[in-house]
Amino acid sequence: MLLNTKLITGFVAIALTGISVLKPFSNENYFDLDTKKSAVLVIESPGKEIYLDFCIQCHGANGKGDSKNFPPLDASDWLKNKRTESIAAVKFGQNGEIMVNKIKYNNAMPAMGLSNQEVADVMNYIMTSWSNKQSKIVTESEVAAIKK
Ligand code: HEC
Repeated sequence: MLLNTKLITGFVAIALTGISVLKPFSNENYFDLDTKKSAVLVIESPGKEIYLDFCIQCHGANGKGDSKNFPPLDASDWLKNKRTESIAAVKFGQNGEIMVNKIKYNNAMPAMGLSNQEVADVMNYIMTSWSNKQSKIVTESEVAAIKK
């Protein structure tokens, strides 16, 4: 009886191994590929790197600003509705009174000396992060075309 159980267990184990070898397209075999894909995605998100290096100290890790000196980027109506002005702000700096989500800010954001490509990358990052869901991608040439 015990021997039988062992034999059956052994048989089932062999059968299962056989099945996974015979199924080259099973999820199990895709695991490695998926891992590589997500690693590539991380490398392909230079906008996040730029955000961490240049923006986080004022706008915060959660993009919420401080509701006083630094306006939010997460759910910002300014960022959502003023696409060109937002790109210009990041490209050239921004100061003077602005209204973001019904709160007045009158402070200064310096120009950070980013290249057009870096401005595009960081814009794409902030416009698709937190609760932001902008689908029209910002390109380098769109940034290049925006003058002071
Ligand atoms: C030194 C602090 C500081 C840094 C660093 C900074 N900002 Fe700002 N940012 C501000 C301030 C202050 C304003 C509002 C300026 C005003 O009152 O006119 C602003 C406004 C903005 C706005 C428009 C208003 C809004 O909230 O939607 C955007 C977009 C923006 N910043 C994005 C960025 C991005 C992207 C970076 C990094 C590349 C960055 N900022 C770095 C301080 C900063």
